[in-house]
Amino acid sequence: MSHLPSSPPQSPREYLQLVDEIAAHDRLYYEHHRPAISDVEYDRLRSALVAVEAAHPDWVVDHSPSRRVGHAPLSGFSKVARQVPMLSLDNTYSAGDVAEFDERVRRALKQEGDSEPPRYVIEPKIDGISTELTYEQGIFRLGTTRGDGLIGEDITANLRTIRSLPQKLHQAIDVTVRGEVFMRRDDFAQLNEDRRKRQEEPFKNPRNGTGGTLKQLDPRVTAERPLRIYLYELLTERSDIETQTQVLAQLRNLGLPVSEVTDCADSLDALLALLATWQARRASIPYDIDGLVIKVDSLRQRRLLGSTARAPRAAIAYKFPAEQATTRLLAIEANVGRTGAVTPVAVLQPVDLSGTTVSRASVHNWDQVARLDLHLGDEVCVEKAGEIIPQIVRVLVERRAGRESELVQVLAPTACPVCEEGLVRNDGEVALRCPGTRPCPAQVREAVGFFCHRGAMNLDGFGERLIEELVAKGLVRDAADLYALTKEQLRRLPRLGEKSADNLMAALAKSRGEATLSRLLTGLGIPHIGEVWAQKIAASYRSLEALRAEAPDALCATLSAVHGFGQERAGAVRDYFASPAAKALLEKFIAQGLSPREPDAVQSSGRLVGKSLCLTGTLSQPRGEVKTRIERAGGKVVASVSSKTHFLIVGNEPGADKQQAAAKHGVPSLTEAELLALLREGA
Ligand code: IVH
Repeated sequence: MSHLPSSPPQSPREYLQLVDEIAAHDRLYYEHHRPAISDVEYDRLRSALVAVEAAHPDWVVDHSPSRRVGHAPLSGFSKVARQVPMLSLDNTYSAGDVAEFDERVRRALKQEGDSEPPRYVIEPKIDGISTELTYEQGIFRLGTTRGDGLIGEDITANLRTIRSLPQKLHQAIDVTVRGEVFMRRDDFAQLNEDRRKRQEEPFKNPRNGTGGTLKQLDPRVTAERPLRIYLYELLTERSDIETQTQVLAQLRNLGLPVSEVTDCADSLDALLALLATWQARRASIPYDIDGLVIKVDSLRQRRLLGSTARAPRAAIAYKFPAEQATTRLLAIEANVGRTGAVTPVAVLQPVDLSGTTVSRASVHNWDQVARLDLHLGDEVCVEKAGEIIPQIVRVLVERRAGRESELVQVLAPTACPVCEEGLVRNDGEVALRCPGTRPCPAQVREAVGFFCHRGAMNLDGFGERLIEELVAKGLVRDAADLYALTKEQLRRLPRLGEKSADNLMAALAKSRGEATLSRLLTGLGIPHIGEVWAQKIAASYRSLEALRAEAPDALCATLSAVHGFGQERAGAVRDYFASPAAKALLEKFIAQGLSPREPDAVQSSGRLVGKSLCLTGTLSQPRGEVKTRIERAGGKVVASVSSKTHFLIVGNEPGADKQQAAAKHGVPSLTEAELLALLREGA
């Protein structure tokens, strides 16, 4: 690896060297898991990059690692039409189905006059989201979703945030590749844990998490999520590449991540023998696979076999059956959440299910407990179909014979297991709720824990145990009480020394002075309001005082007009701020000296703030990219030219309509180069 000058880059050439240097370290770290330098050294390189890019915005290249942190939100994904449709695969579920596939392949090849027996490559069928990537001269330019096959969506900005995906290939070639975006199981579990702590709805499984993340309009949110990618198809024909095995090798040579577990089989018997080994191997792979993909290795044979409207004839998916196990139901626990919802969790006799030991399972709600007719002591069938937490799918009623007297029917609780208040069921809701009027220590604990969590107020040192203690001692009944704590009260807690008490007091003082409005709003746990929406509310109101002063209906109207917010979410915010409990809590915060404001967003100082621009013709970069840059500078891209449009950006082969409209309304036209110059000045 080249040695970096110790001083910051002084020329575009040195800047590009730094870009390559960081990209190489990213590859070592994220792909090979072998960092060559310490975190401190790496951070130094990144700071040098940020500094040089701020000083010389005109040097910045698309493939700079700085682009991975994600840009300002997009207003939507632009559609991209494909010349060649992105196909899917037909499914098989048994050895018999696979034998039929092999038979079909042989027959079709014979009809085409090809007598060479097919050889097969077996790849894991990654349970993620399919994507097509285009590199021009080795630089990543465009990434799209499958969409309906012919028209996909431009998700380039989101894909750029994937650290293991190179922005620049090892060779400066034009190439289009296909692969799967996914999350590893451990990363996914961590992501969901964070979401649960922030009271955001956890994703159902890694695939849903990946799909939701790629649909994110704010690439800064995507950048925080643990996405990965594996490439498996080369769509650009190359005369020197004759087999799928060579394709995978070529993808690797280009620096693209490729699954490390692929197999080859020369005959149907070898193929079936390999498939049989996979059920057990599945658990040893750190990401979810829902089957295997069997592909004819020879690209020539693949071309001969062609495809149906939906799928190629030379490849097929072999899907695994859902994994199930039988075990005994030991107990049903009732969990009390922050909002008082009391949900059932099954405690099971530990059992092995596809490599992990399962001792808990989810049952959706108490209606489901009744529907399944669960009895303690029952033998139950648990299934893991993509979800991390297995589900109870049925009771083995036939195994009850002779044991009836030992079994105890599980009934929905009538009182909260923590505060013993009677549970209620709100109209139209399935969940049973503890009203929490006493108040309920479990809800207080959850709500205060949520408020302190790093995604919200980030109150250092206020962990689960401490909060439990503070709530149990009656020192904290809501989040505002935290700010009334004294050092003496903390010192009196068991296992808490002088220094820890000082640190906790310092964390509270810091939070009082530095917390932003958006963090406070996140911490309040308003239904449907996670971090991103909290930021939008904060951007509209700027201070807690302004938000409190707003009339409920005006608040609802303002937020409904915020892009993407929607009526339901705006209504939830209005209801929250109108509730006496919230009013009292906010008053308490202010009385404790916590009255946060929101710092100015970068956008309001961009050169294009308040300007609307219309684009016509082909630009040198994908439209989505240009649009993002305009939006980052505070501008808006509109679909047609009117008297309100500020500029028309004219690319190659521009549309006559837009140019005529611009002439009619006196809208100035800019070339792409002029736009870029404007963007640079505004950066
Ligand atoms: S090949 C022309 N290879 O499975 C067909 N697909 O159920 C190209 N998938 O849409 C697909 N791993 O999203 C191929 N190693 C792999 C795959 C794979 C996962 C996905 C892909 C496809 C879906 C079909």
